[in-house]
Amino acid sequence: MPARIVGTGSCLPVRAVSNQELEKIMDTTDEWIRSRTGICKRHIAVEETTTSMAVEAAKKAMENAGTEAKELDLIIVGTVSGDMCFPSTACQVQAEIGAEHAIAFDINAACAGFLYGLAVADAYIKTGMAQTALIIGAETLSKMIDWKDRSTCVLFGDGAGAAVVKKDEVGIESLVQGADGAKGSVLNCHNRPVNNLFVKNSVELDFAHMNGQEVYKFAIRTVPEAVFKALDKAGTEPDNVNYFLLHQANIRIIESIAKKIGQPIEKFPTNLQKCGNISAGSVPVLLDNVNREGKLRRGDKIALAGFGAGLTWGAAVLTW
Ligand code: ACO
Repeated sequence: MPARIVGTGSCLPVRAVSNQELEKIMDTTDEWIRSRTGICKRHIAVEETTTSMAVEAAKKAMENAGTEAKELDLIIVGTVSGDMCFPSTACQVQAEIGAEHAIAFDINAACAGFLYGLAVADAYIKTGMAQTALIIGAETLSKMIDWKDRSTCVLFGDGAGAAVVKKDEVGIESLVQGADGAKGSVLNCHNRPVNNLFVKNSVELDFAHMNGQEVYKFAIRTVPEAVFKALDKAGTEPDNVNYFLLHQANIRIIESIAKKIGQPIEKFPTNLQKCGNISAGSVPVLLDNVNREGKLRRGDKIALAGFGAGLTWGAAVLTW
């Protein structure tokens, strides 16, 4: 039996930062940011952490699903910005929500983290290794970007999205993932360098680096291919899909993908205007927004797709 998304939740930091506010503190303009990306504002963590937002999103998703924490037997968090190297964000969430029967681990697949997590949960559920899973995408990228680098810092926002997944009659119909590690340098951020008693190294923390044009080309080539593959595996066609929920990196990328898939832009809801790019949190926050706006009806066909550092990508076709 397939795994089905039965509830969603999300959490954004309280502090919203508009393009106009950025104009005052760096050499950029609202016009540049909006025309190149579509982003108007983003939420930036001040009091919040990756774990606190993941917990909030998880609680909302469980409430939406009517699921108790003790029912969960699997928690997966997609993140590249956990608060601690260890324990994992998933273990911290498990403790906070009291999901004592769940196993818990993180996935680092950057902006494709939620799609990778969904695929792992689907496999656990299909093979009987889990019955009820919580998948979260949570990020605080604001601590990993160089606020002096205007070409990256205007793009990202913080936040978390979550979904509860359970075995059901209908649900996830197909999943596609890919990775191209050879292109890792297109979008990267170094962890702590080797540093110990035997190496002299002044430890400096790195920030995120991005070759924007390469990421752009990668996204508009890979995402339509992955979506078509997922549709094919599900035995369906773009016309039958009610909504395509794509990673919210850039409105121009989404418009280009919509054109390649041959579907009207109205089928591609967006929230990047108010959230920016939340990396692994992007797709589940959008899914929760659309769900809570009452746009999804049981039986609707939904396509999800994410892409990001790795390079990684993932797509899913499901019945809501
Ligand atoms: N404000 C004003 N000017 C800026 C800014 C800024 N915030 N950032 C860069 N510029 C300037 C550059 O310095 C450059 O100036 P120059 O021509 O005098 O040298 C000019 O704008 C053009 O810079 P480019 O980098 O060529 O701008 P481009 O048109 O490629 O747009 C962008 C950059 C928006 C990042 C684009 O490449 C893009 O959308 N890439 C896709 C990648 C993406 O969306 N990544 C998000 C994160 S990755 C992920 O989620 C997987």
